[in-house]
Amino acid sequence: MPARDSATLGFYVEEAETYAGRGREADLARIERFASLLPAGGQVLELGCGGGQDSAALLGRGLEVTPTDGSPELAAQAALRLGRPVSVLLFEDLDASAAYDGVWAKACLLHVPRTALPAIIAKVHAALRPGGAFYASFKAGEAEGRDRFGRYYNYPSAEWLRETYGTSAWHSLDMTEESGGGYDGQPTRWLHAFAIKNA
Ligand SMILES: C[S@@+](CC[C@H](N)C(=O)[O-])C[C@H]1O[C@@H](n2cnc3c(N)ncnc32)[C@H](O)[C@@H]1O
Repeated sequence: MPARDSATLGFYVEEAETYAGRGREADLARIERFASLLPAGGQVLELGCGGGQDSAALLGRGLEVTPTDGSPELAAQAALRLGRPVSVLLFEDLDASAAYDGVWAKACLLHVPRTALPAIIAKVHAALRPGGAFYASFKAGEAEGRDRFGRYYNYPSAEWLRETYGTSAWHSLDMTEESGGGYDGQPTRWLHAFAIKNA
């Protein structure tokens, strides 16, 4: 089962410049919480980094960040913002083993087809060192679907997501739901998941 959706990636190729340049407020409270879970100068992998704004904030906290995105055009936009190379990495090609203290995946794994998500979360788990931290956010819902731009979303409930993570693999899994917005301008319920890998 492919972990990528070609219409979704097509959107992030076509709209890269506009998307990367949109007004976007960094979620500094969650960035601080994530940074507080890591050793000073710890190594962080960012998946689906988009325009690179969160990598910039994490670098600003003295972390060693590897920003990546599956859209070559967005990776180029992030590289321009960060002044450093940004790797093109599809989620399904993540193949690291105990290499990172943290993985930051804001609003990107929401594009992974439901059937493929457990395998991608297992890859993130493998990429983390024992005790490593994993942040991801998802648009909440009950059934997968597409938005008005044709982008695929897995739209999980908290319960479905908890089962998909598999609680035995994680020392802790904290999930909160709150209202917010998105690029489509629609009011959105967001799920924020902080997981810590077993030591
Ligand atoms: C909603 S945007 C979020 C970008 C950024 N994390 C942010 O919060 O602004 C989703 C990002 O995931 C990337 N993406 C989508 N499918 C992907 C895949 N299969 N592998 C890697 N990246 C993917 C897109 O290119 C895009 O940058």
